Amino acid sequence: MRAVTVLASFLLAIKALPAADRVESLYQMPDLSFGLYSGYLPVAGTSKQLHYVAALSENNWQTDPVLLWFNGGPGCSSMLGWLSENGPYSIIDGQSNFTKNQYSWNKEATIIYIEAPAGVGYSLCTDSKDDCDKYNDFNSADDSMQAFVQLMTVKFPELKNNDVYITGKSYAGIFVPRLAERVDWYIGNCTANKSCPFVPKLMGYIVCNGVTDYRYDNLKGFIDTAYWFGLISTSLWNDLINNQCYENNPPVAQCNQWIDELDKNLTNIPVFDILGKCWTPTIKQTLSECGGQSSLNFDEKRQMTAHRYASFIKSPLSSKHVGANPPCTYSQPLIDFMNNAAVRKALHIPDSAPEWIFCNDAIIGNYTKYPNGSIEVYESLRGKYKMLKLSGDTDLAVPTSATKGWIENLNWPISKEWKQFFVNGQVGGYTEERENGKFLFATIHGAGHMAPQWKPAPSYHVVFNFIKNQPI
Ligand SMILES: *[C@@H]1O[C@H](CO)[C@@H](O)[C@H](O)[C@H]1NC(C)=O
Ligand SMILES: *[C@@H]1O[C@H](CO)[C@@H](O)[C@H](O)[C@H]1NC(C)=O
Ligand SMILES: *[C@@H]1O[C@H](CO)[C@@H](O)[C@H](O)[C@H]1NC(C)=O
Ligand SMILES: *[C@@H]1O[C@H](CO)[C@@H](O)[C@H](O)[C@H]1NC(C)=O
Ligand SMILES: *[C@@H]1O[C@H](CO)[C@@H](O)[C@H](O)[C@H]1NC(C)=O
Ligand SMILES: *[C@@H]1O[C@H](CO)[C@@H](O)[C@H](O)[C@H]1NC(C)=O
Repeated sequence: MRAVTVLASFLLAIKALPAADRVESLYQMPDLSFGLYSGYLPVAGTSKQLHYVAALSENNWQTDPVLLWFNGGPGCSSMLGWLSENGPYSIIDGQSNFTKNQYSWNKEATIIYIEAPAGVGYSLCTDSKDDCDKYNDFNSADDSMQAFVQLMTVKFPELKNNDVYITGKSYAGIFVPRLAERVDWYIGNCTANKSCPFVPKLMGYIVCNGVTDYRYDNLKGFIDTAYWFGLISTSLWNDLINNQCYENNPPVAQCNQWIDELDKNLTNIPVFDILGKCWTPTIKQTLSECGGQSSLNFDEKRQMTAHRYASFIKSPLSSKHVGANPPCTYSQPLIDFMNNAAVRKALHIPDSAPEWIFCNDAIIGNYTKYPNGSIEVYESLRGKYKMLKLSGDTDLAVPTSATKGWIENLNWPISKEWKQFFVNGQVGGYTEERENGKFLFATIHGAGHMAPQWKPAPSYHVVFNFIKNQPI
């Protein structure tokens, strides 16, 4: 009897996977037998629909954890994660074709990339009364929460009892904890009302080089990192620091000039990987040329991590993809792929959907950032869920030293001291554990902002050992 029930639920599960969203074949991705899905998650009562791409686990999708993945911006597409960072196939910098990614996160987890908020990438928002450009950290989390419930109850009900981790990078250092907070509320209400379609098995969240606390993720961290990597002169560093040029309202008028000098000295240095190659070296990525001086005030300039995202949006890179490409990054093949007619069709993108771009200017231009970032969520969810903060240590956008600043400031008790970890006989990075393992900080040595892409083996090592509660 039991065997029959198990078999019946198994068959039901197979049948229930969203057949209409299944991607049967895709240009340059020869083997999709693990199960690739692409479709839309409506936000009730609005014209908004969030586009998702799901790659089922190659190991055992019925029992392996589910990872939701968000890229940052705010306003940048999570397809970047799928196609270049941790998906089953990726484009290696400098190449034009996809290759199988042996460190794809879907080796042992189902990973679901969500383009958020609506208007980003192929996510849709068609009715202007829905304020399609007017987002903040809270309403974007509300929409993503609805999308998550849709995913687990309508699209993939067979995954609703699986462990869930919310993951992402960069400005998703805000999106991820805020969504975790929403899921926590939802769980609380479910327990109280006992009337939910499902109770999410949220285990924790994972953030790579994420913006968290603007008291640390700001221009000072940026200046210090530039200095200690040898990119600016000692006298310029002294001028900037001694005169508190990183402050909201710098006390010295000359700060503007020094900041300009800082930017000029950093021209053609890839902001996402100080040691990396600049793929578009003819583009001068100074604040003023990216629109920083003319359209952003000093306050925004100070929040350099976020500003650097904003700055590339404004870059006069090309008239067609205005700022679509972050400075120095390698990107055109992804843009070509995503806009290919056959690819759009295979991904079930409606003809009416606009052209796909990296990052949506109008969304970033109108986005309101909560001034305290996401640091409060660390306190409110402390001890309740597992948290992993991964930090590629050659990133200038969200530098490791800034991340260490807010972690020290949390002052949670250390349960395992700072130590090296090894992958393939080499130092992969460093770890420090707090809260009896509930909070892990890990650097990825020699990786910049895109740690899973540029140092895939150590990144994979840390992420999956963390998920499995194994020593790193
Ligand atoms: C890339 O893929 C295209 C189309 O499949 C093919 O024509 C081309 O030869 C490939 N290039 C390389 C370098 O493999
Ligand atoms: C659940 O509870 C929180 C407070 O814990 C509340 O703010 C939220 O609106 C409630 N509703 C849902 C659907 O999560
Ligand atoms: C549970 O009930 C509260 C109060 O009635 C409501 O605000 C909340 O949305 C409900 N939660 C869910 C998940 O339905
Ligand atoms: C770099 O900074 C110095 C001041 O430290 C400044 O004189 C110089 O013009 C800047 N620009 C470049 C391109 O080096
Ligand atoms: C804000 O959104 C409006 C409407 O889409 C757009 O025209 C405008 O350019 C956006 N503002 C900025 C600063 O990007
Ligand atoms: C930000 O956090 C501080 C405490 O660190 C608090 O006093 C302040 O009210 C918060 N800001 C907002 C806008 O809530």
